[in-house]
Amino acid sequence: MAPWLHCRPMLVLGIESSCDETGVALVEAEGAAVPRLLAHALHSQIDMHQDYGGVVPELASRDHIRRVLPLANEVLGAAGRPMTEVDVVAYTRGPGLAGALLVGAGVACALGAALSLPVLGVHHLEGHLLSPFLSADPPEFPFVALLVSGGHTQLMRVDAVGRYTLLGETIDDAAGEAFDKSAKLLGLGYPGGPALSRLAQDGNAAAFQLPRPLLHSGDLDFSFAGLKTAVLTQAKKLGGDLERRKADLAAATQEAIVDVLVKKSVRALRQTGLRRIVVAGGVGANRLLRARLDAECAQRGVRVHYPELALCTDNGAMIAMAAAMRLQAGVEEARADYAFDVRPRWPLHELLVQPA
Ligand code: KG4
Ligand code: ZN
Repeated sequence: MAPWLHCRPMLVLGIESSCDETGVALVEAEGAAVPRLLAHALHSQIDMHQDYGGVVPELASRDHIRRVLPLANEVLGAAGRPMTEVDVVAYTRGPGLAGALLVGAGVACALGAALSLPVLGVHHLEGHLLSPFLSADPPEFPFVALLVSGGHTQLMRVDAVGRYTLLGETIDDAAGEAFDKSAKLLGLGYPGGPALSRLAQDGNAAAFQLPRPLLHSGDLDFSFAGLKTAVLTQAKKLGGDLERRKADLAAATQEAIVDVLVKKSVRALRQTGLRRIVVAGGVGANRLLRARLDAECAQRGVRVHYPELALCTDNGAMIAMAAAMRLQAGVEEARADYAFDVRPRWPLHELLVQPA
């Protein structure tokens, strides 16, 4: 632990700008206690990208530039703390859109240089992974983590901050991607996950039999590319009451994705013998996934932790939190060279450490 942590609480300002949300947050870390979220603010670009059916990188970067400083001021104002009290500025270093990441990194380093503060680049997925620590009832280590975002689907064993073991991952599409691509095939808007699950509420999941690749593979890997092909085949020949059939297909798609995620999570719990699971990433907001996992885990006496619904998708709080927890754990030090380099492709395995 950094020696100055004993002197007074550490204030970390976190900036997220990897994709289509600008997020800023302030957390306070005192000693070894779980850091506390003081304030956070978010601007979603969903409305701006909706006309294009997906994220337009250039527009995303330009919008981050417009939003990030006003959001930082809003957060500091809400927390009643001036910028001069901040100890560390953290930003998402990757993975994500290069131009979008550069905005957060540039602003963080500029603030750091102007105020002589150290800065810290954070792995976006570690932010998601540690986001359940922002909830009122944070988990205890060790636990299994199901990380389900737009670009990643992974099961991990988490023994401590910075001590992660990959148990299994997708060999093709991510679960979020499966939601997004299927939604597109059904003519639904972006982002597809929430749109598809909304439509699914009116549908009958049993109306279609969709594949569940790798369900019985015996390992903890996932595959969702075949599901997308099956949805495409079914979508092309939808007949009868079209709206009703679309809702049925949406429900069956959601059911197939959730079924695989839940069964593999249960297998991961069985294999590791752990009695705790954390779900993080945008797909973690899915209500069916939560209900199914809750039911399976209740039967097995396993505790499930989720980030608060609003903190499942991208936000600044998880970046500030991950930075604060890495500094507390002493696995990394903030730096004052301001030589920011973003990592648009930053494999999580570079961050993985096998448990001691
Ligand atoms: O973690 P996230 O905000 O961004 C990435 O880091 O990728 O995750 C975004 C993904 C998208 O694929 C989106 O469709 C999905 O999370 N998602 C959902 C729901 N809310 C967001 N998928 C299913 N059900 C939801 N309610
Ligand atoms: Zn994310």
